[in-house]
Amino acid sequence: MCGIVGVTGTDRSLSILIEGLKRLEYRGYDSAGVYVNDLHGHDYLIKRPGRIANLEAALTDDINGLAGIGHTRWATHGGPSEANAHPHYSSDNRFYLVHNGVIENYAQLKKEYLGEVTFRSQTDTEVIVQLVDKFVVENNMTTEAAFLKVLRLISNDSSYAFVLMDREQPDTLFVAKNKSPLLVGLGDGYNMVGSDAMSMIKETKKFMEIGDHELVIVKPDHVDIKDFTGNDKTRNPFEVDIDANSADKGAYPYYMLKEIDEQPAVMRKLVQQYFGDSDQPQINEELLKSMAESDHIYIIGAGTSYHAGLVGSRIFERLCGVPTSVHISSEFAYEQPLLSKKPFFIFLSQSGETADSRQVLVTINENKWPSLTITNVDKSTLSREATFTELLYAGPEIAVASTKAYTAQIAVEAILAKAFGEFIGNPEAKKFDVKHQLGLVANGMQAITDSKKTLEEVAARFLSKPRNAFYIGRGIDWTVSLEAALKLKEISYVQAEGFASGELKHGTIALIENNTPVIGIITQDRTAGLTRSNLDETEARGANIITIVSRHLAQEDDTIVLPDVDQMLSPLLSVVPAQLLAYYTSLGKGLDVDKPRNLAKSVTVQ
Ligand code: G6P
Repeated sequence: MCGIVGVTGTDRSLSILIEGLKRLEYRGYDSAGVYVNDLHGHDYLIKRPGRIANLEAALTDDINGLAGIGHTRWATHGGPSEANAHPHYSSDNRFYLVHNGVIENYAQLKKEYLGEVTFRSQTDTEVIVQLVDKFVVENNMTTEAAFLKVLRLISNDSSYAFVLMDREQPDTLFVAKNKSPLLVGLGDGYNMVGSDAMSMIKETKKFMEIGDHELVIVKPDHVDIKDFTGNDKTRNPFEVDIDANSADKGAYPYYMLKEIDEQPAVMRKLVQQYFGDSDQPQINEELLKSMAESDHIYIIGAGTSYHAGLVGSRIFERLCGVPTSVHISSEFAYEQPLLSKKPFFIFLSQSGETADSRQVLVTINENKWPSLTITNVDKSTLSREATFTELLYAGPEIAVASTKAYTAQIAVEAILAKAFGEFIGNPEAKKFDVKHQLGLVANGMQAITDSKKTLEEVAARFLSKPRNAFYIGRGIDWTVSLEAALKLKEISYVQAEGFASGELKHGTIALIENNTPVIGIITQDRTAGLTRSNLDETEARGANIITIVSRHLAQEDDTIVLPDVDQMLSPLLSVVPAQLLAYYTSLGKGLDVDKPRNLAKSVTVQ
C-alpha cells in the first residue's frame, strides 16, 4: 500500500527510483510518479495513473537527475488519476512531496492555514506540501524548520512516511515517519530511502532505521537524525542478508504460482533453521521463560495472518495446555477484551508492517506486556518493536494473495508450541514429533502441487461461472475454510464464504441453489461424518459438491485426496488445493492473479 523511494547523489537516480518502485509493486497501487532534479536547475515531474509501465513509457531520454523521489499510490483521498498521483508539489513549484499514510486532520489544516490556495488534487498530501511552502515563503523559515512545524501540526492519530524535496536544496531529502514504514539505505557515495529493504536491495545491504517522530536529513554523503525538539540522535546501521534475485519470478507466469510451489521448500527450510541437527527446536530461552510467566496467549493478526492464528491457537492449547485466543488486530485495537492477569502476545504478520497490528503493539508496549512477532521480514516495524522475533524464512512473498506465509506461520507456531510445551513440561508436546511431521507435510505439499492438472480442471468446471461459493468444515477444517474462501474471493472475485458446516442449516443454506459450488474440507476423524452429512444437505438443494479429504477418511468419489499427516497439521495440506483452485479460477477468468483489484500487500493505513 503506497510505496516510496528516494535517492540522492548519483546520476543513476532515475533508474534506481524506477527499479525501487517495481520492487514495491507487490504492495498494491493504482498510479505512480517520479520527481528528479539534476542539481543544475533542471527538474522533471512525471506521474501516470495505472501501472509503472505507463510511467516508464512517459520517460524520455532527456529526463535525468542526481536526486529524486518516486511513489506508487494506493488511493485513499480521491480516485486514481494523474492529479492525485504523487509527488505532490507546492503552487510555486518549489517543494515536492511523496507520502504513504493518512493525515487525519488534513481538512482542518487546509481550512485553518490554506484558505487562499488553489489545490490541484483531492489528496491530504497536497495540504502538507502547500503548508511547508507557506511557512517557508510567508514566515521566512528554513525548509527544515517549516517541515518540522508542519510535522508538529499533524495530529497524532495520523500515519505518514514523507520524503520532501526542495528545488533550492536539491541534493537533500527531508524525511519523517509516524506508523508508516520507511528505511534509509546507505549506498557508496549516495544514499536512499525506501518503504522496505527490498526496494533498495540491488544497491545496498546496509540500512538505517527511522523511528516515529524523527526528522531525518539525507544527503549524498551523510544522514542526520533529530527528534522533533531538534536534538541530534545517533544510530548504527544494520545489514540484511537478502538475495536480490530471490524476488524474481523466474519461469513462472505469476508470483502466486511460484510461491505456492515453494511451500515444500519453505517447510524444509524451517526444519533446518529451527532444528539444525538436533531433534529439539532451538528457540530463544528468554522467549520461552517469558511465555512461561504468562497465563494466557493472545494471538493478533489481520487477513491471512489472522487465519493462521486460528490454527495456531488450537496447536498451542493442545501442546501447551495454555488458554490461547485469537483476535483481528483492527478490532482488538479499539475494543480491547478483558485480559488475563499475565498476558503474552504473539503478533503474526508476513510483512511486519500492518498498521492495524502495529496499533495493537503500541498499546501492548505502553502496558509493558511481553510480545513476540512472527514475521517474514527481519527488522520490520513489528519485529523491531516487539520483545522477541521469530522468522518465517519463507523468502519474499510478492503476490498480494498470501500463500507460503500462511503455511510458514502455522509451521512456526507448531515449532514454538512444541518448544514451549516441552519447556513447561506438557506431555502432549513431548509426544508430538513436529520435525518428522513437517517432513511429511513437505512431501505431501509436493504431491499436491504436482497434481495441478486436476485442480485446473475442477476450477474450470465448477468455479468459473458461479458468483458465489462456499467452503465448509468443522473445527480446524473450518478455520482453513475461512482462508480458502479468502483466497478465492481475493483473486477471482467469486463471492466466497468459509462456514462452520454445522451452522449452515441455521440460515446460510438458504443461499444454496442449483450449481452453487460447496467445497467440503474433511481431515478430522471426529467430524468427518458430520461434515459429509452437511454436504449432502446442500447437494439435496442443488449444490455442486467438491471435497478435499485426508487419505484415511477418503471415499471413492472424493475430488481431492490429501496425504495423511498429524490431524493438527492438516491445514498445511488442505489449504494448498484451495490456493490452487483460487489461482486457476482467477487465471481462467483472465484476471491479474498477482495484483487483484483494490487490494494491497502491505496495508500501512488503518
Ligand atoms: C493485506 C494482505 C493480506 C494479508 C494482510 C495482513 O490485507 O493483502 O494478504 O494477510 O494484509 O498482512 P500481514 O503482512 O500483517 O500478514
